[in-house]
Amino acid sequence: MTSAPTTTTAGPLDVERLIQDLTLEEKASLTSGLDFWHTQPVERLGIGSVMVTDGPHGLRKQDTSADHLGLAESVPATCFPTAAALGSTWDVDLLRRVGSALGRETRANDVAVLLGPGINIKRSPLCGRNFEYFSEDPVVSGDLGAALIEGIQSEGVGTSLKHFAVNNQETDRMRVSADVDERTLREIYLTGFERAVTRAKPWTVMCAYNKVNGTYASEHPWLLTEVLRDEWGYDGVVVSDWGAVADRVPSLAAGLDLEMPNSGNIGDAQVVEAVRSGAMDEAVLDQAVRRLLTLLSRALPAAAEPSSYDAGAHHALAREAAAAGSVLLKNDPVDGAPLLPLRAADAAGVLVVGEFARTPRYQGAGSSQVNPTRLDDALTAIGELTGADVSFAPGFTIEGVTEGSDEQLRDEAVEAAKTATTVVVFLGLPAADESEGYDRDHLDLPDTQVALLQALAEVNPRLVVVLANGSAVALSGWEHLTPAVLETWLGGQAGGGAVADLLFGAQSPSGRLTETIPVSLRDTPAYGSFPGELGHVRYGEGVLVGYRYYDAKGMAVSYPFGHGLTYTSFEHSDVTATVSGEGDEVTVTVRARITNTGRVRGAEVVQVYVGDPESVVLRPERELKGFVKVALEPGESREVEVVLDARDLSYWHPTLRAWTLEGGEFLVSVGASSRDLRATVSVDVTAPPLAAPLSDDSTFGEWLDHPVGGELLRAELARPETPGADDQGNLEIDETMAKMLLDMPVRVIANFAGMLFDRDGLARLLDQARERSVRA
Ligand code: BGC
Repeated sequence: MTSAPTTTTAGPLDVERLIQDLTLEEKASLTSGLDFWHTQPVERLGIGSVMVTDGPHGLRKQDTSADHLGLAESVPATCFPTAAALGSTWDVDLLRRVGSALGRETRANDVAVLLGPGINIKRSPLCGRNFEYFSEDPVVSGDLGAALIEGIQSEGVGTSLKHFAVNNQETDRMRVSADVDERTLREIYLTGFERAVTRAKPWTVMCAYNKVNGTYASEHPWLLTEVLRDEWGYDGVVVSDWGAVADRVPSLAAGLDLEMPNSGNIGDAQVVEAVRSGAMDEAVLDQAVRRLLTLLSRALPAAAEPSSYDAGAHHALAREAAAAGSVLLKNDPVDGAPLLPLRAADAAGVLVVGEFARTPRYQGAGSSQVNPTRLDDALTAIGELTGADVSFAPGFTIEGVTEGSDEQLRDEAVEAAKTATTVVVFLGLPAADESEGYDRDHLDLPDTQVALLQALAEVNPRLVVVLANGSAVALSGWEHLTPAVLETWLGGQAGGGAVADLLFGAQSPSGRLTETIPVSLRDTPAYGSFPGELGHVRYGEGVLVGYRYYDAKGMAVSYPFGHGLTYTSFEHSDVTATVSGEGDEVTVTVRARITNTGRVRGAEVVQVYVGDPESVVLRPERELKGFVKVALEPGESREVEVVLDARDLSYWHPTLRAWTLEGGEFLVSVGASSRDLRATVSVDVTAPPLAAPLSDDSTFGEWLDHPVGGELLRAELARPETPGADDQGNLEIDETMAKMLLDMPVRVIANFAGMLFDRDGLARLLDQARERSVRA
């Protein structure tokens, strides 16, 4: 392992001048790392080296002794809630503040780029890395990702938006080909990246390990250049995921600027050789170098002026974020009132059960693992908040932590529960279940925990479950045993304090699900195709990912996307949707008045969904297109507004290969979850008729529906010699026959000589279509 460089450039870089002055070898060397975490310097020309490091919810900066896998101990840093929890806040302002704190810590540690956020779609709850991602929905992922990037970069350091793209599983992640049709790619898997890239301009984008439709993401010109740069206008650096480059020359040619970490400089030599032999234009290398030098330039001001940060303030922010990202799934009445919040005055009678209350699960394993500045546990935090000496029983074992057997601990907890006023039981997934590098194969809590819950429920009905897990677990087998469930995800180093705040009402829960909680694994959209086999994973569910799938099938779920309870209630009223403009210029302004009708302060997440009831392609019943989180005092009322544009109403047309807006009716719904729509407004949108290219293989129906083709076809049918049609071109055949015709390619109709038109008729039709430029 090379040791960290000591030099950094002092002044601004004259990028074009440097490109002139660098030798071919030096240029090639810049396109791969110096070591595990640093870029390559060229000291002769005063080009320094900067450090990049993980990410995403805290800084993981290793000292100079980076181990082979880059996983050894790192410097203390605030471990903010993981993306699963940050996502559930639905709060872009809060994410900007968390981002800014992350940025300050990054800068204070002399690191130029924090490797995050990760915004891959949660295709299946099984993905081992879901805790690092925000949502099953691209709008949530993209907008929250953008907010985090804006916050981090506001401190003068960069980000790395990852993992681009279609890295939705850990199984075989370094090799598997994600086989996805373009419409699904565009609408689901790329939209979040597009939103984050175009809004927040991350300094770097990290390409994924996997292949996309057979080509490594690191070698994918369509992905890294056509889409990312040419279409989205991205001008930053594309860096490889660590070790994701299979072949340097095609990677560079595809648009990958920086290979990380250093892989022995063989790739640099290959790049030099490719330029010398003429196999690769030197301009390609120059362009990568230009982007890398620009990145170094951007990093200079912060490097020259490192900042400091207030660890106490960041811990408090982590607590606020953890509370805002916890989702109260269920809060049924017991003795006539919802069980939560508990009264601090009653805390002395509360029994806390579950080793996780004392030994929290607060982050996942792998490259995102932060060494926290401090760590709150819920048990201590409850004591501190309420001033009570709260009783505790571990209830189950965590290997290497808890003494005793599961049976013995269960019996002790049940005995204590008999006399407790309320039992709060902390359950969750064992740490080994959730990690980078592998996926889960089930959605279940450990049997010992469910058995504990059953036994507790038998002796005390006032039972609250607090969950800690990085991705959805199935609740259907046990949730009937408890009136209240609080999902805290993996809440970071201050998660324990946040739980205390929520349980005892110092805060009203305001998190909402960004992923559906299914009844069972078998119900999930990718069941049967996740994680694929023999090097391929086929995204056969297409655009029906997450709630889009459950809604299409009308399936029951345990808790829907967008769901989350509070200690207050909200009324949505005066919902309107107003259209202005048309076609590409159309906007739909959605407004709603939100009133806090309960007794405590709380926040509502107002969700705007759009559905297109009639379309030439299958569209999800409704899709989230915007959201606003609004905090209100009791009795307070505020109007919120979400403005939708043409893109929000469009789909990706697979043959036109373009975002396409079909005119007609759209249903705009405002709701408190994907299944709690408070009002739906129908709007009429005007857009030019669809004009997909026509050919002799297009069907009779496609010709008829085409704005020009329909006219030409009718004129052909109106000819006196056409059998089966009148002189206006209207068919005079029975309905069954007419229906069959719609699906027939016109060349087949011409082959059935004498049916409507013959080959001469077809030739006439095609000629005219060509003249009017509607034929591909
Ligand atoms: C992970 C990335 C991480 C990188 C550096 C890779 O294994 O996929 O997310 O940033 O390592 O640690």
